[in-house]
Amino acid sequence: MRLQNKIAIITGAGSGIGRGIALAFVKEGAKVVVADWSEEGGKETVEQIRKINGEVVFVKTDVSKTADIEQMVKTCLDKFGQVDILVNNAGIHRAYNLHEMSEENWDTVLNVNLKSVFLGSKRVIPEMLKQGKGKIISIASIAGLVGFAQSGAYCASKGGIIALTKEMVLEYAPKKINVNCIAPGVIKTVMTKDMITDPATKQFLESSTPYPRLGEPEDIAMAAVYLASDESDFVNGEVLVVDGGWVAK
Ligand SMILES: NC(=O)c1ccc[n+]([C@@H]2O[C@H](COP(=O)([O-])OP(=O)(O)OC[C@H]3O[C@@H](n4cnc5c(N)ncnc54)[C@H](O)[C@@H]3O)[C@@H](O)[C@H]2O)c1
Repeated sequence: MRLQNKIAIITGAGSGIGRGIALAFVKEGAKVVVADWSEEGGKETVEQIRKINGEVVFVKTDVSKTADIEQMVKTCLDKFGQVDILVNNAGIHRAYNLHEMSEENWDTVLNVNLKSVFLGSKRVIPEMLKQGKGKIISIASIAGLVGFAQSGAYCASKGGIIALTKEMVLEYAPKKINVNCIAPGVIKTVMTKDMITDPATKQFLESSTPYPRLGEPEDIAMAAVYLASDESDFVNGEVLVVDGGWVAK
């Protein structure tokens, strides 16, 4: 088992990629905190984890709020005594042309996708410094590497995660805290459901992905297991692209 007795917090674990990561971590021996603002989604993930005899706690969390992040980490420390891994996964997309996007929508996307990485990391780093080791993994996107129409705030937030990841390496790699991110391509989740249901968009997405299928949450979960494990200790500031070849074109 690659994460035996490790304690991991996964945000946005009530659905899609976050749920896939939580389940994969448990299968590798980790105990997990499922953090999500959706109680329904969080409880479903908890149920799936208990079915495979995993140890888990759910915390209702809005990752853009300092008080909620505080509660999330406190719950982890109270229940499990430490935090070895933080996965900043919660994220949202709002589709607008840039000139039609409201300031409120811009702020919401940036706060949920990017400010959350700052807040979560800021809170767990002191714990990881005390422990002398830690792993921070953030879910960026290929939209942080190349442009996607109607995704201005989303692209900016994901590019921001990539830049912040590299900055954090300079401060925390010397303290044995690994900071990396994953840039998924198109993964079949609630976020992409409408796109995949529309035949023309599905055809565009499939034809843009050289590998002959779209991604599944498990594809990202396996990358996260690697970055969370001791096997990746010398990997720092990496943007692990898991996209079936989209950005290789
Ligand atoms: N699906 C894709 O194709 C794709 C591609 C690249 C990157 N991503 C990124 O992967 C991550 C997970 O996305 P997904 O596809 O699993 O989407 P999803 O919509 O299935 O899951 C997102 C989860 O985040 C939770 N969430 C949203 N806002 C939150 C908040 N403020 N506080 C706490 N929880 C919140 C939701 O309740 C949901 O459970 C996101 O950061 C997304 O940007 C997804």
